[in-house]
Amino acid sequence: MSSFLSMKNISKSFNHVPVLKNVSINVEHGEIHALLGENGAGKSTLMNILGGVHQPDEGAIVLNGQTVEMTTPRTSQSYGISFIHQELNVISDLRVYENLFLGNELKNRFGFVKVEEMCDKTSDILAELGVDIHPKTYVRHLDTSYKQMLEIAKALLHNSRLIIMDEPTTALAEHEVHRLFALMKNLKQTGVSIIYISHKLKEIQEVCDTYTVLRDGHVVGSNRMKDENLDEITKLMVGKSVSEDRLTESHSFGPVALEVKHLTSEGFFKDINFTVRKGEIVGFTGLAGDGRTELFESLFGFRKKYNGQIKIFAQDVNINHPKQALKAGMGLVPKDRKENAIIKDLNVIQNMSLSSLAHFEKAGLIKGRAEREKFNFYEQKLNIKVPNPKTTIDKLSGGNQQKVVIAKWLEVNADIIIFDNPTQGIDVGARREIYQHIVALADKGKAVIILSSEASEIRKVCHTIHVMYQGEVTAQFAGEEATDDEIMSYATGSKRGR
Ligand SMILES: Nc1ncnc2c1ncn2[C@@H]1O[C@H](COP(=O)(O)OP(=O)(O)OP(=O)(O)O)[C@@H](O)[C@H]1O
Ligand SMILES: [Mg+2]
Repeated sequence: MSSFLSMKNISKSFNHVPVLKNVSINVEHGEIHALLGENGAGKSTLMNILGGVHQPDEGAIVLNGQTVEMTTPRTSQSYGISFIHQELNVISDLRVYENLFLGNELKNRFGFVKVEEMCDKTSDILAELGVDIHPKTYVRHLDTSYKQMLEIAKALLHNSRLIIMDEPTTALAEHEVHRLFALMKNLKQTGVSIIYISHKLKEIQEVCDTYTVLRDGHVVGSNRMKDENLDEITKLMVGKSVSEDRLTESHSFGPVALEVKHLTSEGFFKDINFTVRKGEIVGFTGLAGDGRTELFESLFGFRKKYNGQIKIFAQDVNINHPKQALKAGMGLVPKDRKENAIIKDLNVIQNMSLSSLAHFEKAGLIKGRAEREKFNFYEQKLNIKVPNPKTTIDKLSGGNQQKVVIAKWLEVNADIIIFDNPTQGIDVGARREIYQHIVALADKGKAVIILSSEASEIRKVCHTIHVMYQGEVTAQFAGEEATDDEIMSYATGSKRGR
């Protein structure tokens, strides 16, 4: 019997650079199929071909035994395929329900849009996802994790037969991930197939039935999930095992670099107190809506209204603008790459040197060679895949864009560096490499702060971990003594105070 979906011998090049080489993949009814591989392996490109975004140079797509041409995204949708893209596609200036029904508005027989009906349907789907937002809220007011939930809701709305999820959980907290998984399992029961792309291997093992691994545009393995262990899959992906050990040793720290006392911003966070010393790596974790991003955006001067005291190297500071924060010696790697961290029209090297221009500048001239050398260093260290460093950054795969963003901040000469969700979309091999660089920053005497929803990850790298719940710090641990379960019980509010 033939598969529900077969992509057969697909090849694709961009500007004569081959990206997919003779790739075949089969997906059955009611199967959750993981598509795995390093950053730049070709996963999104393959899915863009299935989703009608790109045309293959060679090969065929067979759906239910019929060869089909996916000429546009609409064609793909008409075959019952929904696509949750890696880069969020929601429109900030529209309301939640308008985003969900964009291009498929419900209308009555006179052509008037049925706003209330669309709002009701939106509410139903959001309730299923456990998301509590009003359908008429403007999307620009929503946090990234909610935007990601909207992408998922959009796909669910179409009663699809196949849903492509390209890193749907990048911005989600663990309990949201679990809710998504429950939903995926329900969909599977009704015969819906899912192609699932993620760099979080534990998720893959939990929810996927089968997998295909791509490496440099080739299929290097495909099997049922339970037959393999994660280490073998990692080896297929990156060509070696990746250690799971803790990266940080406890050691003595320098003086306090940042001290925050009673910091409060009505509706976002309340009475926050902590210190970060030179050489220390401090983590903040929690669920979506825990206030950690808002806290550090305030500290960095993106939001003006807060009460409390901030001291940098024992000096009181008053920060109302990011420029003041930079001047005071702070750097912040924002969590939203597409909106805040990259400039699409600039090339890769320019994006990397953006905030550290002073390093490369001499008498007002940017030293092209120094820039280039620095780029080559990180290209090799972080395994950044770039067809050509002079191409605009949006031509890079998602994970490779993120590597450029991180490289940029590893070069910034700030005393206090805040990384918000630094390894979003980064493959397992490069993830460890990035954390090693972050640890090296601390070893050089920088004060480092990492915000992440992945408790297991920050445990490996932080000296101290603060857990937040609804705008308050509910627990503080030494990195080596925290367990994922314990962190989770404070992050969900089921345990409080320590
Ligand atoms: N429009 C494009 N023009 C030129 N090159 C492209 C384009 N889209 C993708 N590429 C290149 O194709 C390769 C594969 O990219 P793709 O986005 O498919 O990787 P991926 O496996 O999804 O990686 P990631 O895990 O980082 O998302 C990359 O080297 C990328 O630079
Ligand atoms: Mg991708």
